[in-house]
Amino acid sequence: MSSPVKQTLKWAQKLLPACDGDLNHAKRQLVWLKEKIISDRPGGAIDDKLSEQEQTQLEKYINQRVFDHKPLQYILGTQPFCDLDIVTRPPILIPRWETEEWTYKVIQLMHQHLDKSRPLRILDICTGSGCIALALAKHLPKDSAQIIGLDISNKAISLANHNLNIHKLSIRNTVEFREKDVFNLDLKEPVDMIVSNPPYITHDEYNSLDPDVKEWEDPRALVADEQGTRIHKRIIQVAKHCRPYNNDLPRLIMEVGGTHQIKPLTEEMQINGLKDIEVWKDLADKDRVIVAH
Ligand SMILES: C[S@@+](CC[C@H](N)C(=O)[O-])C[C@H]1O[C@@H](n2cnc3c(N)ncnc32)[C@H](O)[C@@H]1O
Repeated sequence: MSSPVKQTLKWAQKLLPACDGDLNHAKRQLVWLKEKIISDRPGGAIDDKLSEQEQTQLEKYINQRVFDHKPLQYILGTQPFCDLDIVTRPPILIPRWETEEWTYKVIQLMHQHLDKSRPLRILDICTGSGCIALALAKHLPKDSAQIIGLDISNKAISLANHNLNIHKLSIRNTVEFREKDVFNLDLKEPVDMIVSNPPYITHDEYNSLDPDVKEWEDPRALVADEQGTRIHKRIIQVAKHCRPYNNDLPRLIMEVGGTHQIKPLTEEMQINGLKDIEVWKDLADKDRVIVAH
């Protein structure tokens, strides 16, 4: 029988292939997996010694990570996003740090420029788990915004509604989710601003994605035609009908896949009368968001 320390090291070593061979990374993942097992205990006991049955469960999670390439967030069941624990469920896209970063920036921008004349009506196109819509609803001043999240996938809308239900007590603005294809969208209600993280991976890039992504997340959430810009171009068509709220807040804020998409999207925005086009970089210094008034 091995000591607890030896056993922990054995598990971490087993996790190595799912952690790019980085032992510290593997140890951190192991801690999160153990925490999940402890927090799932029916009686709520917090003793960190795992029973035999719990050890078997831990081995099962490790095997899912290593052999099934199951993303950690699908095993843990949540991903933190702008101070919300967003429930994650395959095949709905797991919220990414890049998206969280620009969502905080949008929140800051809105805090600076919201006026009290009327609530800002925001459309979150391609809402997925609902993470962006819910983060805005949580962090914007009470009753300053009305947010609608749209997605083509009924599984995404069902998860977004589940997240809304879980977080409804901490949310200060109205949020509604609707199943809708953006190519079939006819804006009947007034909208002031569109935010979106559309699929933007090219077909070539998709082929070289890690199995954790390719085998688990919906390809519809990842890939788009026209070098990854097809959905953005459609969103631009929709955004030209947004009414400007004031001179300081943009009408459109969209995540992009990189520098190669900036020129075609800038051209499309100009053709459709959007102006003051700006590109925001992410923490890794990559072109990440395109913004227009
Ligand atoms: C990159 S994911 C973004 C999810 C979420 N907003 C986030 O940032 O984690 C893109 C989402 O777009 C949705 N989608 C793809 N094509 C669409 C379309 N034609 N109309 C509406 N939604 C679409 C997918 O179902 C997916 O949930």
